[in-house]
Amino acid sequence: MTPHRDFRSLVCAERDRRDNFKTLLSCVLPRPIAFVSTLSPHGVANLAPFSFFNGVGSNPPAVIFSPCTKADGTPKDTLVNLRALGEFVVNVVPFSIREAMNEASHPFPPEVSEFEAAGFTPLASRVVRPPRVAESPVHMECRLVQIVPVGNGPLSANVCIGEVLCFHVAADHLLPDGTVDVARLDLVGRLGGDDYATTRDRFTLPKPAPKPR
Ligand SMILES: Cc1cc2nc3c(=O)[nH]c(=O)nc-3n(C[C@H](O)[C@H](O)[C@H](O)COP(=O)(O)O)c2cc1C
Repeated sequence: MTPHRDFRSLVCAERDRRDNFKTLLSCVLPRPIAFVSTLSPHGVANLAPFSFFNGVGSNPPAVIFSPCTKADGTPKDTLVNLRALGEFVVNVVPFSIREAMNEASHPFPPEVSEFEAAGFTPLASRVVRPPRVAESPVHMECRLVQIVPVGNGPLSANVCIGEVLCFHVAADHLLPDGTVDVARLDLVGRLGGDDYATTRDRFTLPKPAPKPR
C-alpha cells in the first residue's frame, strides 16, 4: 500500500466539460462495449457502439448504456429510436469486428443503416423488432425499462435501462458445462482517447475465505 501520495484535485465545476469528459474516460476503464441495434419509426435498422455500458443485475437480467446528447444539443439516432420503439439489442464486440464497429460509430444520418454502411449482416430477433448482428457471437434482446436523463444539453447522459429478454450465444462459444467460453469470445474494451484493450490477459483471484464471526 502507498503510505503517502500527492493528489491534484480537479474540481468539475471549475473545469471545461470536455476536460471532465476526457478525465472520466481515462479513469473509468476498460469499459465494455455494447454494439446496440435499434429500429427507427421508418424501419431503418440502426447500429452504434456505446462504452458507457454495463450489466447491472440479474433478477431480471438488466443492462444500462448511455447515448449522450450530441455536441449540438440534439439526441443520437439510438435514443430517438428507443424513445419511439422501446426495444434494442446489445451485440458484443470481439476483436475480429473492431474496425467495422468503429466505422459504424460514424454519425450517419437517420435514413442510413449502419448495417449496410459498415458491412454487418442483420439477423431477425426472436422477441424484439430490431435485428441482431450476425458477426457478433452474443446478442441480448432487451426491452427498455426507463431512460434516466443526467443533466441536460451537450454531452449530458441519457441512461437507458433495459431488461434482457433473451440471450443468444454462438454454439461454438459455449463450453460443455453450458457456460460461455470467455477466451473464445475475445472481446475488446474501450480505454481513453483512441485506445482499446483486449480480454486476452486474464488472472484468477478466488473469493476471500469466509471469516469466523
Ligand atoms: C467504442 C466506442 C464507444 C462509444 N461509446 C459511446 C457512449 O457510451 N456514448 C455515446 O453517446 N457515444 C458513444 N460513442 C459514439 C457513438 O457510437 C456515435 O456517436 C454514433 O454515431 C451514435 O450513433 P447513432 O446516432 O446512430 O445513435 C462511442 C463510439 C465508439 C467507437
